Amino acid sequence: MAQDPLLQPFQLKHLTIKNRLMMTAHEPAYPVDGMPTELYRAYHVERAKAGIGLTMTAGSAAVAKDSPPVFNNILAYKDEVVPWLRELTDACHEHGTAVMIQLTHLGRRTRWDKADWLPAVSASHHREASHRAFPKQAEDWDIDRLIRDYADAAERMHAAGLDGIELQAYGHLMDQFWSPLTNTLEAPYGGSLDNRLRFTFDVLRAIRERVGPEFIVGVRYTGDEQLPGGLNADEGLDISRRLKDSGMVDFLNVVRGHIDTDPGLTDVIPVQGMPSAPHLDFAGEIKRQVDFPTFHGAKIQDVGTARFAIESGKVDMIGMTRAHMADPHIVRKIMEGREEEIRPCVGANYCLDRIYQGGAAYCIHNAATGRETTMPHDIPRAGQRRRILVIGAGPGGLEAARVAAERGHDVVVLEAMSQAGGQVRLSAQSERRREMIAIIDWRLAQCEKLGVEIRYNCWAEADDVRQENPDVVIVATGGYPIEDKPGVGHDLVVNSWDILSGHIKPGHRVLLFDDAGDHPALQAAEIIARTGAELEIMTPDRTFSAEIMAMNLVPYMRALQRPNVTFTPTYRLKSVERNGNNLLARITSDYLDLDHERHVDQVVVNYGITPMADIYFDLKPHASNGGEVNYEDLIVGKPQTVVRNEDGRFQLFRIGDAVESRNIHAAIYDALRLTIDL
Ligand SMILES: Cc1cc2nc3c(=O)[nH]c(=O)nc-3n(C[C@H](O)[C@H](O)[C@H](O)COP(=O)(O)O)c2cc1C
Ligand code: SF4
Repeated sequence: MAQDPLLQPFQLKHLTIKNRLMMTAHEPAYPVDGMPTELYRAYHVERAKAGIGLTMTAGSAAVAKDSPPVFNNILAYKDEVVPWLRELTDACHEHGTAVMIQLTHLGRRTRWDKADWLPAVSASHHREASHRAFPKQAEDWDIDRLIRDYADAAERMHAAGLDGIELQAYGHLMDQFWSPLTNTLEAPYGGSLDNRLRFTFDVLRAIRERVGPEFIVGVRYTGDEQLPGGLNADEGLDISRRLKDSGMVDFLNVVRGHIDTDPGLTDVIPVQGMPSAPHLDFAGEIKRQVDFPTFHGAKIQDVGTARFAIESGKVDMIGMTRAHMADPHIVRKIMEGREEEIRPCVGANYCLDRIYQGGAAYCIHNAATGRETTMPHDIPRAGQRRRILVIGAGPGGLEAARVAAERGHDVVVLEAMSQAGGQVRLSAQSERRREMIAIIDWRLAQCEKLGVEIRYNCWAEADDVRQENPDVVIVATGGYPIEDKPGVGHDLVVNSWDILSGHIKPGHRVLLFDDAGDHPALQAAEIIARTGAELEIMTPDRTFSAEIMAMNLVPYMRALQRPNVTFTPTYRLKSVERNGNNLLARITSDYLDLDHERHVDQVVVNYGITPMADIYFDLKPHASNGGEVNYEDLIVGKPQTVVRNEDGRFQLFRIGDAVESRNIHAAIYDALRLTIDL
């Protein structure tokens, strides 16, 4: 596809970017002690090898010590960062990929009780809701120091051989100066727009003095805060023009919105169920009016939308960031005419939500992302072809089947239901989580291409399995909802899956007792709330929905903050009794021995999942390894060689929720790392 607009080069000053696809800045929280070491490099090189035009490394690399990372960012204020970045840049350059880095000072978007325990600093004392620090209002000597810090960091990036830098100005220190909502300084850095922008231009001037006129410098900024009293679109346009006219900036990377709250952040970086490419037109309008190199990315998950963004001339470079976490080989697949094989980003936002909880960014359904030094994205062929039987066609089972087939094995999947998907299919019943089914559909398509045989409506019995003469059996049968807790009348309650699947209609006055804090509870709650029923969501935890991370919670809250819904944390369902035509729920707590009552007509419980592994235990006596997994070998990536039963004719493993209740990523990682060594 020689004329594909996405594959046309883009000339940015002296730099020819070989195509229009980029990863915008994103910190996957892989640094070691603030340095982009082997994994960091391998992550970017994997995408460079596959042909991405530009990778904006880091995300919020810290320029100063009083900008302590909130999610394990690169410490650009340390000199030792230079050789690490040079290695990364050189390695990506070998594949023709341009490399830049995003630099920032987080301002109030951090905490004071981290790293060196320095006060957070901003252009006001106003606290940011998400990170909770009440910042110090910058003094003159702070501002002088911060300008120097930016310039020092830029000089380090220049020394590391990067193609350029991008300054972050949405929700961070730079635009905390810009916005009237977060700047209470007096002149010369507060008051008029000129004054509020002064810090930025002082920084740019200082940077240019260090790196010269050629080095590429851009700004990623909000062009409209979408907050009453904040920067509006007119000011955003004005700022865009001033950045261009300064002559110190080479590209604009347009964002719309504000990120000081979870809902604000989620509107800037939309998750599944939210519209695709919501800010593309806005970015396009800035490009049209300012006529300057413009980058943009926000929920552009599919190549068609990315192509449209470029072909229509809305922007010059288009970001597909999470899409590249889900599939690092997008560009290669476009070039090879294999677009339909791209592993889709389903917007689950597991990646981003995890970093805000202190974890590394992992993709919900690509377990090799973020593990490039140990897990391959391209599955190698096995030396010897084996017959592999997988029981269960949920995400874990299908991943095992896909990987085994890629390795060249002969693979059969037995599925008890008439369709694949397991709990993912159930979850995808919610309109908002519909995109989840792509986790299954992509694997089904891959399995079909690779010749995997899937037998539906096939309840596996041990004898049937043995008659298949497998070399390896992988039990991926998942789990089912825990239905009973001692003392709670099992026959009087329904569970969240009953509501989700539509088997049980919501009542009129409903108590939903959520002991697991996971998605099914809130998905069921959404269904119940929508009927107008009076709904109380109760949990013994100190916060509700403890397993649902920040940005994933946003759409639920938008659906559930209505007059008929209440949340009651820290209380526990003790028992349920019949009371005429209704139910009497007795309530206690873990803190006190209470006997509160609720009169309702339906109690929905969400106790979590228990493994469904009968077939595993039936097969265990016949397996050579007795089901044992050598964890050491699993971790270091060696084949499983345990023998517990000399007469056993096959190896037996179980993965995912069939072992213990976990999540989709865990099931897929179980499958990948086991199967990759079969
Ligand atoms: C794990 C992760 C970390 C991110 N960190 C940053 C960051 O530090 N700075 C930034 O400007 N954007 C950051 N982003 C936002 C991305 O640059 C991008 O705007 C966002 O993911 C939306 O684009 P997409 O839909 O193509 O993923 C991050 C995104 C992810 C997934
Ligand atoms: S976790 Fe979800 S949003 Fe993040 S890359 Fe994977 S599929 Fe996309």
